[in-house]
Amino acid sequence: MPSLPQAAQQSPLRRLSTQAGEQLEILDQTLLPWRKAWRPLSTLADTEHAILDMQVRGAPLIGVIAAYGLALGLQKDASDNALNAISARLAATRPTAVNLGWALTRACERLRPLPVGERVAAAWREADAIAREDADNNQAIGAHGLKLLQYLADRHPDRPLQLMTHCNAGWLATAGYGTALAPIYAARHAGLSMHVWVSETRPRNQGLLTAWELLEAGVPHTLIADNAAGLLILQGRVDAIIVGADRIAANGDVANKVGTSLKALAAAHQCLPFYVAAPTSTLDFSAVSGDDIPIETRSDHELRFVAGVDCNTRIGRLCQIAEGHSVYNPAFDITPAALVTLIITERGVSPANEPALARLSRNPATTDT
Ligand code: MRU
Repeated sequence: MPSLPQAAQQSPLRRLSTQAGEQLEILDQTLLPWRKAWRPLSTLADTEHAILDMQVRGAPLIGVIAAYGLALGLQKDASDNALNAISARLAATRPTAVNLGWALTRACERLRPLPVGERVAAAWREADAIAREDADNNQAIGAHGLKLLQYLADRHPDRPLQLMTHCNAGWLATAGYGTALAPIYAARHAGLSMHVWVSETRPRNQGLLTAWELLEAGVPHTLIADNAAGLLILQGRVDAIIVGADRIAANGDVANKVGTSLKALAAAHQCLPFYVAAPTSTLDFSAVSGDDIPIETRSDHELRFVAGVDCNTRIGRLCQIAEGHSVYNPAFDITPAALVTLIITERGVSPANEPALARLSRNPATTDT
């Protein structure tokens, strides 16, 4: 499997083991792409706030940070009651990304049988392991996805491969290279000629984070308004779409950032490949279909106010709509499995259907692309 260079990997979290104890810092994503600022997370409350306020975001990263939040919370009280209460508080922060519950369940199962006095150190170790595995998974997703991109690129040797993505599923959303962006980084590393259409992703504009990542990585890209995607797809200016996922139901329905399903519909109309890249920790077999996935409804403020920098480079918000209008802000949507060409995981690629996903989850060996 071709691997990405270590130098290409950036991280939205920093771990330090000092004499004062274990420490965690996060890159505050509410200030990006305008300012790069690190913020210490010292308590359970800091962690809860960081996830709720989306200082950290992206399904895999939320899982990793929640595991660290558990370790921070246990530092105060590592009893059984505290373990359950801390885990419940963190699990309630964001409902759609299943990696959050997955990471907390995994950590709690590891910690519960241990003597109380050993739990804090073990919680830090488990969170580190979850973060390391996430980075390894990203690398594997990149390698599997690269084969698909290479195949598509070979069909058009005379021009760059035209990809489209939605939201941000890059290194900012994970502990490694990203999910949807991992194959793109791998393709860049392999010298494949490509260009990426990046949709803005209203209302939180996580597409701006993707554009920022791609600029830093030297990947040719163009930012578009979400509403421009249909035009480009139907004009034949896109060869494939690749997105991440926040939860994948047993039948292959995919919850991802709101707006994803519109791109999938347009892609299906054009018979374009629509790929979903996610680690197997994003699979949720307890959700029979997308109907069982809770969709997070976020604050109306995200629609009422637009964030940006003024001419003095001060970060601020502008109100774009007066109070009095009713506002509805679902953060995710469900793309039906029938519109998904393949799911790219660390174990290989899979069709988006129940038997294939069940096989993938049973068999840790990779399925070849
Ligand atoms: O609300 P967010 O920004 O936490 O949303 C999660 C996402 O970043 C996307 O839905 C992404 O495409 C999947 S997570 C890598």
